[in-house]
Amino acid sequence: MKTEMIQQETLNEAVRLLLEGEVVAIPTETVYGLAGDATNETAVRRIFAAKGRPSDNPLIVHVASIEQAKQFVTHIPDVATQLMDTFWPGALTIILDSNGSASSLVTAGLDTIGLRMPDHPLALQLIEATGLGLAAPSANRSGKPSPTSSAHVAHDLSGRIAAIVDGGETGIGVESTVIDCTANPPVILRPGGVTREQIEAVIGTVALDPALSMKNQTPKAPGMKYTHYAPEATLSVVVGDLSFLQQLIDEARQTGQKTGVILFDGEDIEADVRCFLGSTMETAAQRLYDCLRRFDQTTVDQIFVRDLSEEGVGLAVRNRLHKAAGGRIIRP
Ligand code: TXA
Ligand code: MG
Repeated sequence: MKTEMIQQETLNEAVRLLLEGEVVAIPTETVYGLAGDATNETAVRRIFAAKGRPSDNPLIVHVASIEQAKQFVTHIPDVATQLMDTFWPGALTIILDSNGSASSLVTAGLDTIGLRMPDHPLALQLIEATGLGLAAPSANRSGKPSPTSSAHVAHDLSGRIAAIVDGGETGIGVESTVIDCTANPPVILRPGGVTREQIEAVIGTVALDPALSMKNQTPKAPGMKYTHYAPEATLSVVVGDLSFLQQLIDEARQTGQKTGVILFDGEDIEADVRCFLGSTMETAAQRLYDCLRRFDQTTVDQIFVRDLSEEGVGLAVRNRLHKAAGGRIIRP
C-alpha cells in the first residue's frame, strides 16, 4: 500500500478514506493517532494490524462534543461531566461504561470505553466532517515511542496505512491522561498531558493505579503492561547527581561502549551523543519521544538519564522514561 502525506487542503480525501473504512494517521495535541471508524469492524482490524497491536489492548474513541460521547456510553456520572466541562477539548481520556455502540474490538471485550475530545483543529474537523467517533491509538508500531511528527508516523507505518494528515509537530508530546470514572474516587490509569494536580483542583482527591508505582501489579489499563517506548540501546535511569552520571558514562566509555545521555539545558555532561529536553517539564514532554527515536539513528550502546520530579507533567514524563528503561535504575 502506498501512504500519502496529505495537507489540510485535502482533508476531504481523509474524510473519504475514513468513511470507506480505511485508516488514516491524524495529528492531535498530544501525539499522532491512527484513526478509523470506531463502529466499523474492518477499520478497527486495520488499526490493530497496522500497529501490530495485541488485541487485548483497547482503543480510545475520539469525539468532537460531549453530545457525541453520549453515543458510546450507558451514562455519564457527574464527576465525568465536570471533567469534560473543564478539560475537553484536551489531553484527558475518560473511561466510562460502554453501551456497546463501538465495535467490541475497540473495547477489547471490556464493559468500559475510553473517550476523548482532542484539542486539535484538524482532528476535530475530521471527526465533525465524517460524523464518526474515531478510534485512534498512538500512530506508532506497537512498542515504539509515540509519534510527535508526521515523519515519525511515516517511519513506523508508511505502506501500512492509507494516508497521513500532516499537522506539524504535536504540542504536548506525551499521550493523554487516562482516568477511570467507573471507580469512586476516579483512578488515574495512565499519567499524561492533563496533570493530577489539575484534575484534583476540580474533582478532589483521585487515586493512582497502584501498578504505576509498584511492580508485580497488573495495570488496569491493558496498554500499560506492555514494554513501551524502548530505544534500541540500553536505557538506564540514574538516581544521583550530575557527577555520578558523568562517572557512569566515563566507566561505560572506558569499556569501549558508545554512550548517549538525555539532559536538561545547561547540564554540562560529556557523552558521545547528547539529547536536550529544554529547561521545563513541558519542553521535556514535547521532546522526549523524538529524543528516544533519535538515539535509534545512532550507534550508541548505552543511554543514561537522571531521574526526574513527578510534579505536573513530570509524572507522565517520568513514567514513560521508566517504562523505556524497562525498570533499570542505577543508584550510587
Ligand atoms: O493522547 C492519546 O491518548 C493518544 C492520542 C492519539 O489521542 N492516544 C493513545 O492511545 O495514546 P493508545 O491506544 O496508544 O493508548 C490508550 C491507553 C492504553 O494504555 C489502553 O490500554 C488504555 O488507554 N485504555 C483504553 N481503553 C480502556 C479501557 N476501557 N479501560 C482501561 N484502559 C483503557
Ligand atoms: Mg500508544
